Amino acid sequence: MAELIVALDVQTRAEAVEKVKSIGDGVGFYKIGLELFTAEGPDVVKAVKDLGKKVFLDLKFHDIPRTVERAVRSGGKLGVDLMTIHSVGGKAMIRAAADAAAEFGASAPKILAVTVLTSLDQSDLADVGIVGRTPADQVKAMASFAVGNGADGLVCSPMEVGELSRSLKAGTLFITPGVRPAGAAVGDQKRVATPADAVRDGATHLVVGRPILAAQDPVAAARAIRAEMDGAAR
Ligand code: C5P
Repeated sequence: MAELIVALDVQTRAEAVEKVKSIGDGVGFYKIGLELFTAEGPDVVKAVKDLGKKVFLDLKFHDIPRTVERAVRSGGKLGVDLMTIHSVGGKAMIRAAADAAAEFGASAPKILAVTVLTSLDQSDLADVGIVGRTPADQVKAMASFAVGNGADGLVCSPMEVGELSRSLKAGTLFITPGVRPAGAAVGDQKRVATPADAVRDGATHLVVGRPILAAQDPVAAARAIRAEMDGAAR
């Protein structure tokens, strides 16, 4: 059964706690990203965990293997459930992250790799020396590279998840942002899919921010998305 993760895109710990409390039992998983973590640090992770929720700590590590290993260990000590790294950090860095996570046994955080940021196009890739590959080719290549070197899963767009979930080994996690229920405002997202489509295509976790956080009734919005996901479960 796919899980619903709400992107806690707020600026303070107080707002984060207020949102999690007001959404209540309908959502059990929250994403804490760079903005909130840089403002509030590990305390905000602890606060969300103390409310009984799972945490996806989305800091997209990309550094030398030793540093990433130690950062993943710090995340494991905080009890986070999912963490992100950049697959372009290389084989040794991906393995170091996976090994550090594995130290936590049954409660090990799952390591998700970012392949190509969705903000980058072909000319951006060329600027950093990636030539002769389209962004889609690069996504596919980096996805199998990351999973082959120990990543538990991938962050991918709803446009990519179908093909990746068919080509990568069973059990790989696929986390997709860019999800919008039919009729919802897309905001700055350009390529979106409905929750049902994302689940049908193989997403194991959907990340949804504004359609829930900015809804007049966030509890009802989360319930509707959950129902759509359940209806599509394969
Ligand atoms: O509000 P919205 O549903 O668009 O939020 C989506 C969340 O997923 C945000 O936290 C955003 O930063 C994140 N994300 C994304 N697209 C990516 C990677 C992450 O929207 N390619």
